Amino acid sequence: MALHPLHTLVEQLKAQPIIFIGGKGGVGKTTTAAALASYYASQQQKTLIVSTDPAHSLGDVLNTQLNNAKTAISPYLDAIELNPDVIVDEHFAQVERTIKSYANPDMMPKIREHLRLSKSAPGAQEAAMLESMCQHLVEAADAGYEHIIFDTAPTGHTLRLLVLPEMMGAWTDGLLAQQRRQAKLRSVATHLDSHNQKSSQTDSAQKNDVANPFAAKKSDRWEQAVSVLEKRKELFRQAGLLLHDRTQTAIVLVMTADVLPLAETTRAIEQLENSKLTPAAIVINQLITPTQSDEFWRRRAERQQQLMQDIEENFFKYPLYPIYLQQTDVRGTEALSALLE
Ligand SMILES: Nc1ncnc2c1ncn2[C@@H]1O[C@H](COP(=O)(O)OP(=O)(O)OP(=O)(O)O)[C@@H](O)[C@H]1O
Ligand SMILES: [Mg+2]
Repeated sequence: MALHPLHTLVEQLKAQPIIFIGGKGGVGKTTTAAALASYYASQQQKTLIVSTDPAHSLGDVLNTQLNNAKTAISPYLDAIELNPDVIVDEHFAQVERTIKSYANPDMMPKIREHLRLSKSAPGAQEAAMLESMCQHLVEAADAGYEHIIFDTAPTGHTLRLLVLPEMMGAWTDGLLAQQRRQAKLRSVATHLDSHNQKSSQTDSAQKNDVANPFAAKKSDRWEQAVSVLEKRKELFRQAGLLLHDRTQTAIVLVMTADVLPLAETTRAIEQLENSKLTPAAIVINQLITPTQSDEFWRRRAERQQQLMQDIEENFFKYPLYPIYLQQTDVRGTEALSALLE
């Protein structure tokens, strides 16, 4: 598919409220995400931009300090920058509260130590970020935004995040099934036990309650723990449905006309297609206009044009949109939305 003018990207994406921007490090994901968000807001369409990029560049690009809560950039634009450290702390505090509700208090110091170590375990940040991202995805879908744009972290990381909901859903299912079996065994055992006692003692029911004053409370706490897991599973299920719904969600990959981004984008598309997450479009950023008087820039532009042939061949199935290299970094909503006009 040939190159399309950039402003038609907005046209292409107008039916899909959720847009994920992916791609290799430094190719221009934040710039593209912020440009789309600024453009939609300039058209008075209520837009939320969420960055999961730990480098805080969304705040830099929008000239505002952002955090985990919504910041109003303009009447039509809200922005959130998820800080992995804060998210991980909140996530583990929540896990600790859940465990505390059903664990033996004597065990808590050991459990706390275990949780403290788990925070730095591989995947812990991703899991916590994923849950937070899914929450924003599901909440924003219900909060009346016309557009929700996710400025995701670089490719490998993003892909793991995108397939994690299914994996974690399966994991939670396994855990719930196992724990239900245990609860059933326990109730059979309790029943047998009380039955035995009944046959030997007349006031057995009363005695049983006295012997096990925590019985009812324990099952309540158990229900609570199960409900936390079930809520999480439902969240991942909803987020997974939204992610895979091509009428709701578009994935836009950003790359530059260079050899390494071409290889990486090819791999990313393969992985996305395997996960049934076919991208909607590819943005080729930092293109140099071919008419250059300077030898160095002319050569670079020619090199990019050669690569553009490979790119068009490799990605013939996808609409390609060019963004030209600007004289300076593009910052502020006006300059950003002007990129798309
Ligand atoms: N078309 C462009 N013209 C000029 N500068 C650009 C352009 N696109 C991006 N830049 C600049 O290149 C740098 C990297 O861009 P950006 O932060 O958007 O990339 P990113 O893919 O989000 O990076 P990261 O992977 O670190 O999150 C920034 O300084 C940005 O201002
Ligand atoms: Mg970025």
